[in-house]
Amino acid sequence: MKVAFLGKGGSGKSTLATALVQHLARAGVSVLAIDADHNMDLSYNLGADPSVFLGSDPSLIKKHVGLDTDATFAEVRKTALDKQLAFHLSPMDEFTLRMTIEVSEKVRLMTAGPHTDIVRSGEHCSHSLAAPLKVYLPLLQLGPDEWVVIDERAGTDPVATGILAGVDLAVIVEEPTVYSQRVAKQIAHELTLAKVSHIVVHNKHAGVEGDTAAMVETVMAYKKQKK
Ligand SMILES: Nc1ncnc2c1ncn2[C@@H]1O[C@H](COP(=O)(O)OP(=O)(O)O)[C@@H](O)[C@H]1O
Ligand SMILES: [Mg+2]
Repeated sequence: MKVAFLGKGGSGKSTLATALVQHLARAGVSVLAIDADHNMDLSYNLGADPSVFLGSDPSLIKKHVGLDTDATFAEVRKTALDKQLAFHLSPMDEFTLRMTIEVSEKVRLMTAGPHTDIVRSGEHCSHSLAAPLKVYLPLLQLGPDEWVVIDERAGTDPVATGILAGVDLAVIVEEPTVYSQRVAKQIAHELTLAKVSHIVVHNKHAGVEGDTAAMVETVMAYKKQKK
């Protein structure tokens, strides 16, 4: 199952995404953690010091699919589908292996990465760091007990830019402020337009432990009901 954490900045996306990764790893489940935010909180929370970045060369996935760097991601996705290309965690395909690092026996980490010179020069938008996920996530085929947990950038951007294609469940993290609730509504609206299933989890209610336990229970109940 592929789960993405969304919400207003500071609502607790990285905290809860980290907690879900750790919960799954403790349960003996294989997890690909994807840190799609340039602040790299998920990577650091997992104790990693990432050295491989998806955003260092956002065109790598285009070359992998056999197209030029000026092909659009929509073209790349279509070509990859036509060629029936797929990515897998077990056994791990060459692209996934190259673009991830091992965090622990059960957890691998893919990091979009910090801003690059091409972003600083104004040539690329900072969304380019995570843009390969538009192709990668829909083509990633998981076994029944494999999970992907994605820590997203704040707000509606990740949904509106198509990065959530292929995600099974978006978890909208809401803290008890009107700002957070307003952003949660905006995100839910975008997710409905994008036809991505979503749930809201309430954070900063019962302490990190209590909030984490409630989130894990909600996500697991969703998975069970989808089986
Ligand atoms: N359930 C919680 N209870 C108390 N503090 C929390 C909780 N969840 C997150 N925090 C704190 O809120 C701040 C923002 O959390 P973070 O996960 O980085 O948010 P985001 O990734 O959405 O920007 C951090 O200081 C974090 O420790
Ligand atoms: Mg964060």
